[in-house]
Amino acid sequence: MDALKIVVLVLHLLGLLAIVGSVVVKRGVPTPALVWGARAQILTGLALVGINEADDGDVNHTKIAVKLLVALGVAACAEIAAGRQRRGQGNPNLVHAAGALAIVNTLVAVLWG
Ligand code: HEM
Repeated sequence: MDALKIVVLVLHLLGLLAIVGSVVVKRGVPTPALVWGARAQILTGLALVGINEADDGDVNHTKIAVKLLVALGVAACAEIAAGRQRRGQGNPNLVHAAGALAIVNTLVAVLWG
């Protein structure tokens, strides 16, 4: 595995840690770690796809499409929760949904072919 891919993969895993860590530690409260973690997953995930394509590696496009949709769901929940929090309308359900969707994407990443 080349160095660039290792760096981006580590960032991808740190993004996952930021999301799940934030949800577990801060319970129903959205944090910058949650919002930036969700954004980072989309950027680092797309970068990993690009690196794998450039390497002529095998990319399962159906799996990637599913992961992208789920990651957009994570980001939407995180952004809306943070926006509502700023207006004083905290919503723990959205934060928990973001965490649950991140776990779903982890299962898709690890268990799907
Ligand atoms: C909340 C969002 C996400 C989570 C929690 C997540 C989680 C993970 C995890 C745990 C891995 C490492 C396991 C493995 O390599 O099998 C991984 C790898 C990967 N992810 Fe994600 N991911 C997310 C979003 C995305 C998105 C949006 C994309 C692409 C559009 C993506 C593309 C990839 C790719 C290509 C790899 C494989 C890297 C390799 O070749 O080893 N991920 N992801």
